Amino acid sequence: MSEIAAHKTLVERCEKLSAQDIVELCDATNDSIIEGGGFGWIEPQGRETLERHFRGVLLVPDRELYIARLDGRVVGSAQLVRPPRNNEAQSVGATLTHVYIAPYGRGHGLARGMVALAEERAYGLGHRVMNLDVRETQETAIHLFESLGYRQWGRHPAYAKVKGQIVAGLYYYKALAAPRRGARA
Ligand SMILES: CC(C)(COP(=O)(O)OP(=O)(O)OC[C@H]1O[C@@H](n2cnc3c(N)ncnc32)[C@H](O)[C@@H]1OP(=O)(O)O)[C@@H](O)C(=O)NCCC(=O)NCCS
Repeated sequence: MSEIAAHKTLVERCEKLSAQDIVELCDATNDSIIEGGGFGWIEPQGRETLERHFRGVLLVPDRELYIARLDGRVVGSAQLVRPPRNNEAQSVGATLTHVYIAPYGRGHGLARGMVALAEERAYGLGHRVMNLDVRETQETAIHLFESLGYRQWGRHPAYAKVKGQIVAGLYYYKALAAPRRGARA
C-alpha cells in the first residue's frame, strides 16, 4: 500500500529572517541558480554575498521580500519593487522580480501562491498594475505568468547574456483587481 504524504505549504511576506531561514534561503537561491534561473546571478554565490543581498532587500523601503516554505523549510522567494516616491506618475505600477523556487520545492503551487500574495499586497498599497519580465527561455515561468493573466506587451531581443549567449526577454503586465474575499487561505 502506498502512502501519499501531504506537504505543508506557506507563502509569506518576510520582514525578518532567522539564522535558519537565511541558510535555507541562500541554499534555495544557489540551487535555483545552478538549475538555471530566477535570479540575475548566473553562477552560484557564496553564503556571505547572498546573505548581504537578502539582508539588504529587507532594508530597502521600496522593496519587499516574499518567501515560500515547504514543510517549514524556505525553498524560494520573490521580490516586489515599488516605484520610488518621487515617481508619482508611475505609482500606478509595481514590479515583480526574482521569482524562483528551488527544484526540490516545485510543483506544490508555491510560485503561484507567492505571485498571488504579492499582487494582493500591491493592490492594497494602491498599485493597479503589476509588471514583470522574464527570459524567453524560462518556459515554466512563462506558462505560470500567462496562466495567471499576465499579458505580454514586448520582447527585447538582447535582454540578457547567459553563459556567453544572448537571450531574448519577454515583458508582461497585469491589471490588478481587488482581491476576492476568502480567495486565499
Ligand atoms: C517558474 C517556477 C517559479 C515555478 O515554481 P513552482 O512553485 O513549481 O510553480 P507552481 O507549483 O506554483 O506551478 C505553477 C505552474 O507551473 C507548472 N509547472 C511546474 N513545474 C513544471 C514543469 N517542470 N514543467 C512544466 N510546467 C511546470 C505547474 O504545472 C503550474 O501550472 P498549472 O497550475 O497550470 O499546472 C519555478 O519552476 C522556477 O523557479 N523556475 C526557474 C526560475 C524562473 O524561471 N523564474 C522566473 C523568472 S522571474
